Amino acid sequence: MGTPRKATPVGQAELHVDGRVLNLPVVEGTEQERAIDIGRLRDQTGLVTLDYGYKNTGACQSEITYLDGEKGILRYRGYPVEELAEKSRFVEVAYLMVHGHLPRAGEQQQFSELLTRHSMIHEDMTQFFKNYPERAHPMAILSAMVVSLSSFYPELSQDHVSEELAHIDITATRLLSKLRTIAAFSYKKSIGEPYVYPRHDLKYCANFLNMMFSSPVRPYVVNPVVEKALNTLLILHADHEQNCSTSTVRLVGSAKVNLYAAVAAGICALWGPLHGGANQEVIEMLEDIQRQGGDTRKVIERAKDKRDSFRLYGFGHRVYKNYDPRARIIKQTCVDVLRELKVNDPLLDIAMELEERVQNDDYFKERKLYPNVDFYSGIIYRAIGIPVDMFTVIFALGRLPGWIAQWKESQEDADFKIQRPRQIYTGPTLRHYVPIDQRG
Ligand SMILES: CC(C)(COP(=O)(O)OP(=O)(O)OC[C@H]1O[C@@H](n2cnc3c(N)ncnc32)[C@H](O)[C@@H]1OP(=O)(O)O)[C@@H](O)C(=O)NCCC(=O)NCCS
Repeated sequence: MGTPRKATPVGQAELHVDGRVLNLPVVEGTEQERAIDIGRLRDQTGLVTLDYGYKNTGACQSEITYLDGEKGILRYRGYPVEELAEKSRFVEVAYLMVHGHLPRAGEQQQFSELLTRHSMIHEDMTQFFKNYPERAHPMAILSAMVVSLSSFYPELSQDHVSEELAHIDITATRLLSKLRTIAAFSYKKSIGEPYVYPRHDLKYCANFLNMMFSSPVRPYVVNPVVEKALNTLLILHADHEQNCSTSTVRLVGSAKVNLYAAVAAGICALWGPLHGGANQEVIEMLEDIQRQGGDTRKVIERAKDKRDSFRLYGFGHRVYKNYDPRARIIKQTCVDVLRELKVNDPLLDIAMELEERVQNDDYFKERKLYPNVDFYSGIIYRAIGIPVDMFTVIFALGRLPGWIAQWKESQEDADFKIQRPRQIYTGPTLRHYVPIDQRG
């Protein structure tokens, strides 16, 4: 695929600074998103830009995901996420992410075979799981295990980024397959049950469910509705352009470390409650509401109180200022799964009531705060039997194709640079060392 297509120059912007006028190129992407290219700003003026949270900063040009937060549009490689969630499978979407096109029959078969071949992890690695404390968070185990893969598969060490790229199918399937096994093993460790090894006869999601829920005394029977729901959830999480964890993968990868190290860093970023950890916070919040009698008004008042740091988890998004298209699909999937499994979860009723109140509340309306991807996903996981601290692990499993695709794209970019932002220093000006007995 090579270097990503570059945006087209469409005009100039004038910057007036220190009595000088600087012409800056304006460029436009394929969906008419425009940017002022400030690549030569510091060379020409000595100035840098200051942009907390990168709210106005495009850090790369990318062909992978198109997102319009105002209109609620999300597309992977041009395909609407709604179509992929309905018609595709996660493995197919993973291929699409990495290669830029939907796989043809032969390509799909080869990719699936590689996934099967790489599903085992080195037996010595299973020893690591044993030594974690009983209550270790599976995200801690996941990131440590992923970075450890680089020592078990040293052919993908830091000198071999180009090899990883040349054999991207092997790189990608190895990670996709092993992350799934590690995720399931970390769960088994947390409940003290023996590990269940991957099976060659099961597809990606069914295999994961089997590794999670099968036990020597009780074989697991995969319910197709649950398998489909997991496929949908993973597809909806597969990429979300330059979010916090993906930017982390690109940034860490820009130092030319191996892919495992970059992905392990992405997993750590995803763990945070403002990012992928929000789905865990949502369930804990809903359980809290339930414990306190089910009154959703109190949390809404708390979320609006500026003296209180509490936020309504599962609402709001940096880029969506409209209903998150993923949340809409997840809400429907949630209703379907609960119906199929005949689960009557009072948290779903609380969640729906909360959403309705939020939709009619001026505070949330003015700030365009809608349910995000994390609001309903936790209720599905609960119904399937996935414990709360595994929620973000499943998110990581879903996001992996995006991380790999974005890492690949950044490494192949003709404008590749180590990422190194500037700052405006606001500390003390020059002062000199004073011996301890003379300090006031
Ligand atoms: C996702 C999130 C971090 C985006 O943050 P952001 O783009 O930096 O937006 P801000 O924090 O500047 O929020 C803008 C305004 O909305 C308010 N706001 C945003 N999300 C809110 C929430 N979940 N509950 C209450 N108020 C919220 C902020 O307090 C701020 O109000 P102000 O303008 O009066 O100061 C933020 O919406 C949030 O914390 N959501 C809850 C966590 C979550 O669900 N994360 C998962 C994301 S997929």
